[in-house]
Parts: sequence; structure tokens; C-alpha cells
Amino acid sequence: MSNKAKFSSKLGLVAATVGSAVGLGNIWRFPAEVQSNGGAAFLLVYILCVLVLGIPLMLAEFSLGRGTQADAVGAFKVLSPKSKWWLTGALGVLASYMILSFYTVVAGWTLDYLWQSITGDLYASSNGSGGATSAMNLYFHHKMEQYVCTTWPPLINTFIIIGICIAVLMAGVQKGIERMSTWLMPLLFVILVVFCCEALSFDKAGEGLSYFFTPDFSKITPSVIVNALGQAFFSLSLGMGCLITYGSYFPRSTKLMKTAVTVSMLDMLVAVMMGVIIFPAVFSFGLSDAELRGTTLVFVTLPEVFSMMPATGLWSVLFFTLLLVAALTSAISIGEVSIAFVQDRFGKSRRMATLIVTLPLFALSTLCSLSFGVLSDFKIAGLTIFNLLDTVTSNYMLPTGALLICIFTGWFAPKGFFRKELTPSLGRDRRIYWAVEFIVRWIAPVLILIVLLSSII
Ligand code: PHE
Repeated sequence: MSNKAKFSSKLGLVAATVGSAVGLGNIWRFPAEVQSNGGAAFLLVYILCVLVLGIPLMLAEFSLGRGTQADAVGAFKVLSPKSKWWLTGALGVLASYMILSFYTVVAGWTLDYLWQSITGDLYASSNGSGGATSAMNLYFHHKMEQYVCTTWPPLINTFIIIGICIAVLMAGVQKGIERMSTWLMPLLFVILVVFCCEALSFDKAGEGLSYFFTPDFSKITPSVIVNALGQAFFSLSLGMGCLITYGSYFPRSTKLMKTAVTVSMLDMLVAVMMGVIIFPAVFSFGLSDAELRGTTLVFVTLPEVFSMMPATGLWSVLFFTLLLVAALTSAISIGEVSIAFVQDRFGKSRRMATLIVTLPLFALSTLCSLSFGVLSDFKIAGLTIFNLLDTVTSNYMLPTGALLICIFTGWFAPKGFFRKELTPSLGRDRRIYWAVEFIVRWIAPVLILIVLLSSII
């Protein structure tokens, strides 16, 4: 039952965990959330959510994994064998599977956009639009819509992504996940720094930055807090046992506090850097607010910005490489939750577990991909399959998972378990432990419950 695989170095461990955290959530979702939730006010609440709730919850997940050396379901079985708490892990495994089926589709689009940037197809006839911003926006909108509605190209790209995930996941924790992240994460940061430098040189960079960094406190409403908390959890990969699984690969000597702070800070840094890139660009190129939403931002607005910059192709290739790296390392961590579960619970080899998990994924991802095309009229509760999976997981399953993980770690895990896991990393300073425990027991459950209730009502 015990999970023997371990990350081999501190750097690899941090790279893999940051690789899980930094994903489409930071690059695609975060700037759109900032824009639709009052700019800098959202940023402020988001940072508070990461510091006050995100880090303690991450510590709870790390502790459950490292302390039990088991997968997301096994961790609860080890600590509370006769109870039904293992269902919390099962909810996480289910959520991870559902997220993976649409995450791979978006990663597939990224792959296609990267390819089209390399060949130049993405910009081939954009000049025909006359260079006017609105015409250009229409052109990229149309291109995106046409692309996602077709059957085969998005599907083939999704399958390629699943294929890459299979290859990395089969190679295992050290030779697959850790090695891949150790190579790709530095690349991601280098590309981000290059983009930041370029964005700061735009003529209206100052206006963009002041929109992003000067909070208007009157804009902090309950819904801004709810969205900021949801964004923080999604971005830090919390609530579905992903970090329980990764925690089980941490050696005993890992300092959990230091790791949680490092991972959270780097994840937040990537989100902030994305803001520093996007907002100066939006202000400088005179794009409207409406052009900043969700899917549109990355696949429509940014190509529009690139087409107005010199060296269009180069920036485009760099950006979609960045997005692909972020999406792949996160997709792999999401897949690992189910693979560790099948491997540990059913005693399967890694190869077998990877196949068992990924083969049905082809079918589910196909449904998600087709929900933009031939299945676009097939709706459940008014949502397409893609949107349904996205909404149910992010808005309900992840917060529920996070709530249960807090309650379990704070109240039901064996007495002293959490403290024993944390103590080596806190040294003699007991106050930090008390603060973390207080948050996990009281503050986080109450806040998450409020968030959940407000999204249900
Ligand atoms: N944190 C990832 C992102 O920002 C998504 C993710 C969620 C990964 C949950 C693992 C678990 O895109």
C-alpha cells in the first residue's frame, strides 16, 4: 500500500509542485477574473486568500500525503480506517478526472495555436482586416470559433496532449513528472520575464499598471471575495487531493512550511506577472474591456496584440509555448491523482494504472471537444458538457473537497498528527503552528462554507 516513489531533489520537488500549481488558471483565468471583478481590488483579496487560507490548506494536504505515504483516498483510510472519510479522497479523484477531460481540450487548442504561430497561419490573412482593432478582433474571434467548432483538428490535438501525458506519467514520478518540470519550469519563468520587459516598454504601460495595482476599496463586494477564493484554490491546485498525492512523494526531510510558502509565492508571482503583461498591452493597444473575457483573452485578444507588434510570429510562438508548458505540467499533476489511486488501491503497476486511467479519458475529452461543435445543442441544465464539467468541478467539487480536507485535518485526524508533520519545519516557533491550526479548524471551513452556500443560492 505504501507509495515508494519519491521526488529525488528539493529543486525537482518544488519544480513539480509549482508545475502543478502554475497552469491555465494563472495565465488564462486570472487576468479575466481581475478584469471582471474590479481590477486591483480583486488582486488584493486574492493575495489575502492565498496567504491566509491557501498556505494553511496546502499544508494540510501536504501533511496528509507525506504523513501517510498514500494516495488521495488511501490517506484518509490510513488515518481513519473505519470511517467514511475516504469518500473525500474519492470526490477528489472524481473531480480530477472530470477536470482533466476539459483541461486537455484547452491544452489541445494551445498546441494548435502554437503550431499555427510557427507556420504563420494564425496571422496569414489578418492584414486583410485593414488593421482596425475591431476588424482584427472580429477576425481572431471568427478564427477561434471556426476552429473549436470543427470536429477533427481540436480532437486530434487533444489526443496528442493525452498522448504526451501518457508518456510522461508512464515514465513515473522521478523520470517523468520531476524531470519534465525541472526542465520546463525555468523555461516558463524566462519567457514570462521576457514578456514583462516587453510589456513595460509599451507607451501606456503606466495606465495598465495603475489599473492593476491601485485598489478601489469600494469595489470589494461579497462576490469579489467568493471569486477570489475560488481562483486562489484552483490556482494552488487545492481541494482535490492533488497535493496529497504529491505530498506522498515528499521525503521525510522536506520542510513543509518552506515548500508551501515557496510554491504559493511562485504561483502568485506568475499570476501577477500575467497582469503586468496583459493590462499594459490592453491599455496601449486600445482594446476594450469586453475583449478580455475568459477564452477570448488568450486565443483572441493576445493574437490581436501580437499582430500589432513587430516580430508578431516570435511573440506568438513564445506565448503559446508558455501556455502549453503551464497546461501540460498541470494536466500531468491532475492525471497523477487518479493514477496514484489506481496504483495504490488496486495494486496495479504504473504502466497498467496509466492505461486504465487514460484510455477512458479519450472518450470523455472527445465529448468535451465536440461540445463546441456537433454536440453544442446537447445541454444538461442549460450547459454544454464542457461548461458543465468546468462549473461543477470548480464551483462545487473543489470547494467541497477543500472544506472536507480542512475539517478532517483539523478535527478528525489522529491527535497530534498535523502538528507532528509541521513541527520540523516550524522549529520552535509554536505560534505559527497555532495560527495554521486555527485557520484550518475554524476560519477556512467557515469561509469555504459561505462561498459554497453563496454559489448554490
Ligand atoms: N492549478 C492548476 C492551474 O492553475 C489547475 C489545477 C487544479 C491543477 C487542481 C491541479 C489540481 O491551472
